[in-house]
Amino acid sequence: MTDFALVQTKGGFSAPERFEAEVADCEVQGSIPKDLDGSFFRVGGDWLYPPKFADDAVLNSDGYISAFRFRNGRVSYRGRYVRTRRYERDFAAGRQLYGYYRNPYTDDPSVRDPEHPNLRTLANTSPLIHAGRLFALKEDGLPHHIDPVTLQTLGVWDFGGAWKSQTFTAHPKLDPLTGEMVAFGYEATGLATNDVFIYTVGRDGRVRHEIRTRTPYMTMLHDVAVTHRRFIIPMCGYITSLDILKAGKIHWWWDNSKPAYIGVLARTGDGGDIRWFKGPQRCMMHTFNAYDEGDKVVLYAPFWDGNFFPFFPNTDGTPFDPSRARAFIRRITLDLKSRSDAWTEEILYPFPVVDLGKVDPRVLTLPTRYGFTSFADPKRQFDAARAGSLHGRINNCYGRFDFQTGKFDACFAGPTHSLQECSFVPRPGSREEGDGYLMGVAQNYAQMRSELIIADARDLAAGDVARVILPFRSSAQVHGIWASSQELA
Ligand SMILES: [Fe+2]
Repeated sequence: MTDFALVQTKGGFSAPERFEAEVADCEVQGSIPKDLDGSFFRVGGDWLYPPKFADDAVLNSDGYISAFRFRNGRVSYRGRYVRTRRYERDFAAGRQLYGYYRNPYTDDPSVRDPEHPNLRTLANTSPLIHAGRLFALKEDGLPHHIDPVTLQTLGVWDFGGAWKSQTFTAHPKLDPLTGEMVAFGYEATGLATNDVFIYTVGRDGRVRHEIRTRTPYMTMLHDVAVTHRRFIIPMCGYITSLDILKAGKIHWWWDNSKPAYIGVLARTGDGGDIRWFKGPQRCMMHTFNAYDEGDKVVLYAPFWDGNFFPFFPNTDGTPFDPSRARAFIRRITLDLKSRSDAWTEEILYPFPVVDLGKVDPRVLTLPTRYGFTSFADPKRQFDAARAGSLHGRINNCYGRFDFQTGKFDACFAGPTHSLQECSFVPRPGSREEGDGYLMGVAQNYAQMRSELIIADARDLAAGDVARVILPFRSSAQVHGIWASSQELA
């Protein structure tokens, strides 16, 4: 999220875009692989109106969904705001009516409604395709159903009334063996509650199973992991309370006194079997994947040592510590036979990476060899003269990290480029893990434009095979997904 953190900067690459776009036949450098037939969807935030408070979190910007559509070696682009209730109300008023990130007590009286905080969701975090439907997600509300071709907002989706949590995660997990979606909502019964509702949704889009549980203390649950049999809940020191919110403060605070926990429970149970492992302080945001190994669970994740978000203050008043905000790829083992409540942990690579990692979706929930994410290689050339001063930290490489051998391969994006999250696209017809493409958007600071980069995941050192050039800065992405034409049909 490095560059997303610059959304509020005036004139920088991630300054608000404030337009919707269509490019019918994009300029391409290189050669688009002919077997790519589908769409790369991205969701991020773009302020329609400036935030009400200058120190607000960048995560409070309006949801924006975009799509690169691939067909017959050609690519088109489309970008639209998600028409949330909040967007529509702000647009009607011609100004920002809403206050701090996830604090309805700070909203304009005309829209203030703390009993229904999920109605002010922004749908600005991730896209999802399941059961043939496209959604834009944010963890403080329900999914927004989106037309996959026009990107028009069709409405809020509550699974026919079967989804009882007030919220829906931005990181549902799709089981490649069953076609099921395992998803959850936290703050499930209202602001600052520690209720977590977990759902299994069948490949037909209907809710099949519900588990209601609670976390040891009220906290943010941004991402989880799912194995073939189990549901894994990493949680750490981001806290809030109704007192904090009623005092008109920002939603999340980092509490150094709170231990990190990882909960493990069966996907098909009632939650009564949940076991909490307790570890050293960690900031646990995104995961790569997890899988069962008998009575053990192996979890791969790029966790930090401490508070990552500079705009979420420490409760003890200490300043933000960047030395603890570095994500290292870790292998974490949870032994369900052990009498100890500790987990074991190994750092697999000695350098930090971007905490936006993906695996081949065909191995989600299953034993995994490769993780993919962007990172900053300081040994690569950086052309400061051409890139100018309007850049943030440079993430110049996409990496394939081999968890078995400890090796990694990298694709360098160029001396004036910084990379957002990459997604893995399986090569049509292939079966082997890691056989496919990496795809993600780069910021070209020299040209002040966005470029979609496509690389062969098995030969990253060869560089990208194609770039799709947009003649403008596209709205900052948080997460993206690839969907083949068959998935969209
Ligand atoms: Fe995320």
